[in-house]
Amino acid sequence: MATFNSMLFLTLLVAISALMAAPSAVKAQRFDNYIINITGTVRCAVSATFFANGSSASRPFTNANVQLQCRRRNTTIASTTTDANGTFSIIRDPPLGRLTALITYSITARTCRAFVTTPLSACNSTLPTSGNLVSSLTQSSINTVGNTQVYTLRADNFVYST
Ligand SMILES: *[C@@H]1O[C@H](CO)[C@@H](O)[C@H](O)[C@H]1NC(C)=O
Ligand SMILES: *[C@@H]1O[C@H](CO)[C@@H](O)[C@H](O)[C@H]1NC(C)=O
Ligand SMILES: *[C@@H]1O[C@H](CO)[C@@H](O)[C@H](O)[C@H]1NC(C)=O
Ligand SMILES: *[C@@H]1O[C@H](CO)[C@@H](O)[C@H](O)[C@H]1NC(C)=O
Ligand SMILES: *[C@@H]1O[C@H](CO)[C@@H](O)[C@H](O)[C@H]1NC(C)=O
Repeated sequence: MATFNSMLFLTLLVAISALMAAPSAVKAQRFDNYIINITGTVRCAVSATFFANGSSASRPFTNANVQLQCRRRNTTIASTTTDANGTFSIIRDPPLGRLTALITYSITARTCRAFVTTPLSACNSTLPTSGNLVSSLTQSSINTVGNTQVYTLRADNFVYST
């Protein structure tokens, strides 16, 4: 298994080559703020099912506590609660700078996970009273909103774990 340092080095290399490959028009724009948006939708099911069109057949899990766990996916960095659609969003504010944001984005994807602490029985009494829904994070998009560059990480594959 790769050590954290070698992963950091690899991440740096990837981040730097991504920067060098970026079109100059993108490079020229300066941002006042960089944020990382960790988002996803939690379903009230041990294993959520989806239609071919991407919408889910499983009900949303509302009012579920979701933690962002990092450093070997184990330290709780932040937490929030899902809304009426089962959706959550955790905003991280990395230190200013495009390279810092890009590295933080990459490291967060590799070393963090979304961890639901509320048991499934809270949304459906026939579901387990223990265990957790857990999802890895994937790099989804980098968007510009005004003077802010938004790096979106998605928690899209919640799996039930005892
Ligand atoms: C984070 O992502 C969610 C889901 O796409 C979106 O609703 C929310 O507005 C985003 N937050 C920010 C600050 O960009
Ligand atoms: C997706 O497909 C399902 C099942 O066919 C349907 O009920 C639902 O309305 C569709 N959703 C969208 C957004 O098209
Ligand atoms: C997290 O911490 C627990 C003990 O606190 C440990 O057993 C586990 O292996 C750690 N790692 C993960 C990925 O859960
Ligand atoms: C839930 O989703 C619906 C349809 O996409 C949207 O209109 C509504 O604003 C969302 N509710 C919340 C709390 O985000
Ligand atoms: C509760 O979960 C069971 C599966 O354990 C499912 O059959 C049932 O439809 C769920 N109820 C609701 C209201 O979603």
